[in-house]
Amino acid sequence: MTRSSQGPIPATLIPGDGIGPEIVKSVVTILEAAGAPFAWEVHKAGMAAVAESLDPLPEATLESIRRTGLALKGPLTTPVGGGFRSINVRLREEFKLYANVRPARTLIPGGRYDGVDIVLVRENLEGLYVGFDHYIPIDNDPHGAAISSGVNTRAGSRRIARYAFEYAVRNGRKKVTVVHKANILKALTGIFLETAMELAKEYSGRLTVDERIVDACAMQLVLDPTQFDVILTTNLFGDILSDEIAGLVGGLGLAPGANIGEHAAIFEAVHGSAPDIAGKGIANPMALLSAAAMMLDHIGRNDLGTILRQSIQDVLIEDGVRTRDLGGQATTQEVTQALLARVSARTK
Ligand code: NAI
Ligand code: MG
Repeated sequence: MTRSSQGPIPATLIPGDGIGPEIVKSVVTILEAAGAPFAWEVHKAGMAAVAESLDPLPEATLESIRRTGLALKGPLTTPVGGGFRSINVRLREEFKLYANVRPARTLIPGGRYDGVDIVLVRENLEGLYVGFDHYIPIDNDPHGAAISSGVNTRAGSRRIARYAFEYAVRNGRKKVTVVHKANILKALTGIFLETAMELAKEYSGRLTVDERIVDACAMQLVLDPTQFDVILTTNLFGDILSDEIAGLVGGLGLAPGANIGEHAAIFEAVHGSAPDIAGKGIANPMALLSAAAMMLDHIGRNDLGTILRQSIQDVLIEDGVRTRDLGGQATTQEVTQALLARVSARTK
C-alpha cells in the first residue's frame, strides 16, 4: 500500500498493558523526531480497557481501527478467568488479518549465528487454527478421543502466497521457500504447496521459489539459517518456526511482527506485556520501534523505516547502549535518548 506522503495519516495507537505504555511512549517520541506522518488516535485494549469498561476490546477501539486501517499496538495482557477470548485472535478475525509477517535479522554480531536475515510469512486465519477441535466420549471417558480438523482453502492459500511473493519482490528478496508437510498431510498442506508453486510461475525470473518439508526445515534452520530468505508457510508451522527463528537471532527484545489484512494492518512487538519488569523503566523499546518501522514501510515510507532500523543498529553496535535483556545496563530512557540522537543525525 502506498499513500501520499503529504498530510498526516490517521492511525490507531494502543498503549496496552504492563511495559506497553513505557515502550509506546518511547516509540512515539522517536517517531515524532523522525518526522513520521502519523496522527494518533489513542485507544484502550486489554486490562487497561477492562478496568474502564469491562470489555478488553471496546467498540471505540475497533471502530477506530476500522476507520484508520492502521494500528500500532503495545502488548496486551490476556485476562485470565472471566472467559475472555484472546484479544489478538479477536483482532485477527475481526479484520481478517490473513498475513503474519515476522522479520528476523542478526543485529548483534558474535552471537550464535551471524548473517541471519529471514522474513517468515505465516498464513494467519486457516489451517489447524480454525478451531474445529473437540473431544468424543468413549465409554465413561468424556475425553475418550480428540479430533481436530484443519481447513486450507485454495483462495486463502493463493492470497497468502501472493502476499509473500509481492513482499519478496518489493523488498529486493531473491528466494521464497514454501514450507509444508505435503508428504503426510497430503490434502491439507498439499493444497497450500500446490497453489503456491502454481502462483510462483508468475514470478519466474524475479524470484526463486523452492519448497521444504517442515521437519527438515526446522533442522536446517539450526544448522545454517543463512540459507533461508523468505519462508512462506501455514498457520501452525508458522507459529512454531517464527519462534524458532526469533531464538536464532537473540530472542524477544528485538523482534517485530505485522498482521496484515486487506483493509487493516496491525503492527506490534512479538513479546508480551512483561509484567515482571513493568514500571521499572528497563524495558527494551526496540522491538516495538522495529514494528513501527514496518508500519512506515507499509505506508510507503521505507525511507523512514530504514532510518529507524539503521538507528537501532547504531545504538546497539556503535553506541553499545543496550537494555538488560541484551546484556546491557541501560534504562528505557537512556536507550530512547540514544535512539533520538541517532535518528536526528540521520534525518538532518
Ligand atoms: P513476555 O514476552 O511478556 O515476557 C517474557 C520474558 O521476556 C520476561 O522475562 C520479560 O521480562 C522479557 N521481555 C519481554 N519483552 C521485553 C522487553 N521489551 N524488554 C525487556 N524484556 C522483555 O511473555 P509472558 O511473560 O509469557 O506474557 C506476559 C503477558 O503478555 C501474558 O498476559 C500474555 O498473554 C501476554 N502476551 C501478549 C502478547 C501480545 O499482546 N502480542 C504476546 C505474548 C504474550
Ligand atoms: Mg506463537
